Order: sequence, then C-alpha cells, then structure tokens
Amino acid sequence: MTSAPEFNSDSPDETRVLGERLGTLLQPGDVLLLSGELGAGKTTFVQGLARGLGFQGSVSSKSFVLLGEYAGRTKLYHADLYRLEDPQEVQELALDELSVDGVLVVEWPERGEWVLPPEHLRILFRGISEERRALRFEACGPRAAEIVQRLAVLVSS
Ligand SMILES: Nc1ncnc2c1ncn2[C@@H]1O[C@H](COP(=O)(O)OP(=O)(O)OP(=O)(O)O)[C@@H](O)[C@H]1O
Ligand SMILES: [Mg+2]
Repeated sequence: MTSAPEFNSDSPDETRVLGERLGTLLQPGDVLLLSGELGAGKTTFVQGLARGLGFQGSVSSKSFVLLGEYAGRTKLYHADLYRLEDPQEVQELALDELSVDGVLVVEWPERGEWVLPPEHLRILFRGISEERRALRFEACGPRAAEIVQRLAVLVSS
C-alpha cells in the first residue's frame, strides 16, 4: 500500500460531491470497498459515485436488496453485505465476476473479504462529529493507487 490520503466532509452533500469526483475517474473493472460503522456515510457516498458515472436516477440503501445495478457511462454494481451471515451466500453473489464489466462498490466488505477482488480501493469512513466524516483512501494495487493520485489532484484543484 502506498500513502493513504484522508479527506474530510462536513455534510452529506460534501460526501456526495467527493463520491461524484471519484466516479468521473472510474472505469469497468474498478473495485471499491467501503468500510465504516452504520450511518458513517457509505451509501451517501455511492449516491455521488453514481452521479459521477453518469447515472441520473436515485440510489437507495441496499440493506435488503443486497445488490443494485445502475447504468450510467459504465455500469455500477452496488452491493451491501451487512445482512449476509453465511459465507456461502457471499460466494453465490459472484461479485468478482460482476466487476469485470462494470464498477463494483461494496458496503460491509468485511462480511465476505475472502471472495472479493484482492486489488481494490478501500475507503474507510469515520464519524468525527454529527456532520463531519473522515474518509481515508487505501489503495491495494497499482490501479487503485493511480485513482487515489488522480482524485487528490482533482480535489486540490
Ligand atoms: N458528512 C456527512 N457525510 C455523509 N453522511 C452524513 C454526513 N453528515 C451527516 N450525515 C448523515 O449520516 C447518515 C449516513 O447514512 P448512510 O446511509 O450514507 O450511511 P451508511 O454508512 O451507508 O450506513 P449503513 O452501514 O447502515 O449502510 C445520513 O443520515 C446522512 O444524512
Ligand atoms: Mg449503507
């Protein structure tokens, strides 16, 4: 892992804007794993991500559906593994296969870490206060490192 930049967000909208910026940089095959407590802002971030990928509609929490699919400039697969208890179920979702033809974003990846692609960008969400969140970007693999580098440039410009 190279350096892991951290960005602060002071509102849900700011989190969406950061997600949107990241979304503009993504391409099929990219994998994002979103870690953090309940209500940390993961789904809020995915709403921005979808917008950045050119998807116009709304993105809902996937807690009950497990998997959503949004068609923008490229496909976005949005999975939430929170409710999965049986590791077998995670395997059946075949998330690694999905990630080939679209961008894959996974909330609660800890539920199925072993079946998720080893090369990914992990984003750690931390609640600082009621409205403030810290998002830490950890790149696993060269492609993720490139994305982080480009995002840092976008955010600072
Ligand atoms: N800076 C912020 N960024 C994101 N969300 C924020 C922020 N400040 C407050 N919030 C609020 O925190 C909540 C985040 O909810 P969200 O569904 O995005 O969390 P989550 O991490 O996906 O949770 P879960 O693990 O339950 O899926 C929302 O109610 C949102 O309005
Ligand atoms: Mg969520």
